[in-house]
Amino acid sequence: MSPIPKTAPFAEEQIDLLNRVVGTASPVQRAWLAGFLAGLDASGAALVPAHPAAPARPAEPLTIVYASESGNSEKLAGDLAKAARKNGLKPTLIDMADLDLFALVAAKRLVVIAATWGEGEPPARAIRAYNELMGEGAPRLDGVEFGVLALGDTAYAEFCAIGKKIDERLAALGGKRVADRVDCDLDYAEPAARWIGDAVKALAPPNAGRVIEVDFGAKPAAAPSTDIFEAEITEHVDLNSSRSDKETIHLALSFEGGAPAYEPGDSLDLYPENDPAYVDELLKIAGLAGDEKLRTEFTKSRDVTTLSLKTVETYASSTGHQYVKALLDQGQAREWIAGRQLIDLIATFPIALDADKLRALTRPLAPRAYSIASSRREVGDEAHLLISAVRYESQGRARKGVASNYVAEGLKRGGHVRVKLKPNKHFALPATDKDVIMVGPGTGVAPFRAFVQERRATEAKGRSWLFFGDRTFTHDFLYQLEWQDALKDGSLTRMDVAFSRDTPEKVYVQHKLWERRADLIQWLEGGAYFYVCGDAKAMAKDVRAALVRAFADVKSLTPEAAEQAVVTLEREKRYLQDTY
Ligand SMILES: Cc1cc2nc3c(=O)[nH]c(=O)nc-3n(C[C@H](O)[C@H](O)[C@H](O)COP(=O)(O)OP(=O)(O)OC[C@H]3O[C@@H](n4cnc5c(N)ncnc54)[C@H](O)[C@@H]3O)c2cc1C
Ligand SMILES: Cc1cc2nc3c(=O)[nH]c(=O)nc-3n(C[C@H](O)[C@H](O)[C@H](O)COP(=O)(O)O)c2cc1C
Repeated sequence: MSPIPKTAPFAEEQIDLLNRVVGTASPVQRAWLAGFLAGLDASGAALVPAHPAAPARPAEPLTIVYASESGNSEKLAGDLAKAARKNGLKPTLIDMADLDLFALVAAKRLVVIAATWGEGEPPARAIRAYNELMGEGAPRLDGVEFGVLALGDTAYAEFCAIGKKIDERLAALGGKRVADRVDCDLDYAEPAARWIGDAVKALAPPNAGRVIEVDFGAKPAAAPSTDIFEAEITEHVDLNSSRSDKETIHLALSFEGGAPAYEPGDSLDLYPENDPAYVDELLKIAGLAGDEKLRTEFTKSRDVTTLSLKTVETYASSTGHQYVKALLDQGQAREWIAGRQLIDLIATFPIALDADKLRALTRPLAPRAYSIASSRREVGDEAHLLISAVRYESQGRARKGVASNYVAEGLKRGGHVRVKLKPNKHFALPATDKDVIMVGPGTGVAPFRAFVQERRATEAKGRSWLFFGDRTFTHDFLYQLEWQDALKDGSLTRMDVAFSRDTPEKVYVQHKLWERRADLIQWLEGGAYFYVCGDAKAMAKDVRAALVRAFADVKSLTPEAAEQAVVTLEREKRYLQDTY
């Protein structure tokens, strides 16, 4: 398109601005603009009714960095960008995985939205940049205006630890805090939206209203629906043998009107209900047995098991209980709550409670994420989940995980359950001609069943190699027959298994990786993608360490160079994790 001529009836800087906007617009955008302006003239309305246009100036930059694993911080960063644009700012969104720390020196305004994972650790993808930020080599950020929003879960001892540390560090490096940090719990939507509103106000340039910011950037493709769906349970099967000490449920869900548009690697958020027996016991101990309305509310929608430091503080202040106050004053509360639940607090320090006081000790019951274990290309309008019932004993009481036992004990074939799609574009399959290595012990194998189904349905040419592990071959080999079929039809090229309790010495997937290190490194050097899913506490770290050692051994590298080889895989997004 030819530029707007200098002779046009506009000031020179206006012509310049118009050329920047119209010059890059597509034919559709130009046609829309022409129609819009014609319509405006016809209606007699004015674009800027009250005042003659003040000279416009370009929007001011805002850098938004997010450290996210399951997508919440990433989504909020997107919301913030939208709000920022409306307030005269030009946002740049950066996943902390891709952050070049030194680029922040030039940032005038910076917002970091950071989740905490593991036990007070950064999200896996953010570890490299986080360590650089905390390290001695971090650059000064003198004068950079910043704000931090922290995401977390009060059930964890290290609540919002990463957001807190980043906030402190930015200030120590010379940054100027213009928006105070807010630490959000699992029900973060409202406080986060409020924080975003306040932060944008604090960061926006004065008179932001006069700024012209036209965003003709490509619109994202229509996102899949993340509404809550009610699904029917069409299969509910325990995949462990009756002699296993584990119970892992294969759950097939069918959706009237079509399954949500999920991709391999995505999860479903499942909305559980509490065990009514637990709720009854809690209400009895609190002196509120017989209140049917409260019983229903607590069963369906309140988190009645989590015991956090905040819960103990609320209990102390609302009841004035001397012993609970003493526990807090003497700094012993943190230790005391480990392995305990709300029911233990009330049972140990009983006091008369009314419904409001008890409700104030709870938070909304949050959904739990489960990796989707199927491909829509193979199962149509169904989605499959693989859910391990969490059961353990602590402080002399038998405990049951809320959602996993709601599924294992509370649901059956023909029943219904509420779920919501949780997309994860960071754990997607590569092009069909690429090789994939999948490490998924226990329920970590779930997304890889989806991967293998997808590769079969797409007749992928790339090879696939699965490392699976569990306790025993005989009782815990999840989806055993399906893997055998997949090996036969070629959708799975290779499989290695580790059954930890079948041999005197425990064998885990990381040991199998080490045994197969020569082929493993060859696959990776040929461009293979490496996926890890499942336990974050030990397995994921051990697997990474095994891979570093494999590089060192096979390629005769120093430990530092071997570490760098894995960092390179991570930066190339060929080392992908979905761990919990
Ligand atoms: C992205 C993602 C994908 C996931 N995919 C799957 C999947 O495919 N399959 C699957 O089964 N799970 C999966 N999970 C885990 C799942 O979301 C739940 O966390 C799990 O089912 C437990 O939930 P629950 O409600 O049953 O237990 P909760 O009621 O939430 O209780 C769990 C809590 O109990 C405590 N606890 C558990 N075991 C012990 C113990 N031995 N000793 C002391 N305390 C203990 C811990 O505090 C723990 O946080 C996934 C998680 C994420 C984030
Ligand atoms: C396995 C796991 C470990 C977690 N560890 C912590 C923690 O140590 N401290 C905390 O405050 N929150 C913790 N969380 C809660 C997350 O920070 C919270 O769910 C957050 O909203 C996730 O944001 P993201 O989707 O951007 O990753 C943990 C969550 C999971 C599933």
